[in-house]
Amino acid sequence: MTLRVAIVGMGGIGNNHGRCYNNHPEAEVVAVCDIVQERSDKAAEAFGCQGFYSVQSLLDSGIAFDAASVTTAGVENGGDHHAPTMQLLDAGYPVLGEKPISNRIDHAEEMVALAKEKSLRYGINLNHRFTPAAALAKEWLLRGRLGEVNMIDMTMWINNPNETSPHFHMRALHPHSLDVMRYFAGADVAQVHAIFKKGKGRKIWSNVQVNLLYENGIIGHLRGSYDGNWGHTSMGGGSYGLETLDVFGSDGRFFLRDACEELIYYPRFEGTTERHENYGGMSHFGETFQTRISHWVDQNLAGVAPDKIDASGADGLHVQRIIEAAIESWDSGQAVSL
Ligand SMILES: NC(=O)c1ccc[n+]([C@@H]2O[C@H](COP(=O)([O-])OP(=O)(O)OC[C@H]3O[C@@H](n4cnc5c(N)ncnc54)[C@H](O)[C@@H]3O)[C@@H](O)[C@H]2O)c1
Repeated sequence: MTLRVAIVGMGGIGNNHGRCYNNHPEAEVVAVCDIVQERSDKAAEAFGCQGFYSVQSLLDSGIAFDAASVTTAGVENGGDHHAPTMQLLDAGYPVLGEKPISNRIDHAEEMVALAKEKSLRYGINLNHRFTPAAALAKEWLLRGRLGEVNMIDMTMWINNPNETSPHFHMRALHPHSLDVMRYFAGADVAQVHAIFKKGKGRKIWSNVQVNLLYENGIIGHLRGSYDGNWGHTSMGGGSYGLETLDVFGSDGRFFLRDACEELIYYPRFEGTTERHENYGGMSHFGETFQTRISHWVDQNLAGVAPDKIDASGADGLHVQRIIEAAIESWDSGQAVSL
């Protein structure tokens, strides 16, 4: 069986999705679409498939496909996702959307509600947790190697000089970090307190410190920056900075660096420290596009129920709600409950 895929939005990321689908032995890109004709034409040639200049013309063409990726961008990298996603869901197609699910909560809610109403799979490319190292860390956690988890700390910083909106940094970058933290906390966030700072010469809130209380009592902290890259050139060379995750439990701690590059288990009392580099053969964050997209393909081919999709639209909406709560917390000077 082959999953036939259409991709809407043929920028760098849409083309990346296309390569990942075609690398999967049971997936094939059968259509691409971009409102910029040149981008659609170029991608159609690269993938050897039909190109379209609007979602409507793609739908009207009658071309057979089983699922779509929506890799548009827009305001805060998420403003354009809503219209094509609603069109595709309305027409009955499962959608894998890019992050942020949207820069607007009302739009995110509408997409999640439509997918639910139509019983369609709706996933978001929250790719950072789709690594063999993250899977091993999760296994450690589930088999009790950390004991009772008390705290989760995460750092995510990159260099991004984009100044287009005051909260661009929170809304565009931190769906990733907050999703990873929630995945390991195993619970939704109940309360958020955040403080922000504009970097030197910047107009946007490019540095953030966020405290989180999860519903199961775990406490978390996120430090994020768009003024990052202090000497660390992993996570994609020049533009990417550093990603670290620390999970502290009653019996042990694990540390995960750059999503896949280094994973260390530290026992609290006795036992041996266990250290893995590039566990499972993954050496770079860039490879997470392949693992995440392959997982989406596999879940579709296996007919996984829409509410069992990993990194779903509902997950994307939840992290966006945490982000809006952090912004509200900074604006009000208060802790915000979700
Ligand atoms: N998951 C990750 O790790 C990761 C990394 C980088 C970027 N992203 C996300 O990927 C998305 C795309 O990023 P990009 O850099 O490729 O953006 P881009 O702006 O280069 O490309 C988006 C394309 O979508 C097209 N488009 C917009 N509206 C359309 C519509 N209604 N129909 C058809 N085409 C339409 C635009 O013309 C453009 O060519 C963003 O949401 C970004 O946040 C994710």
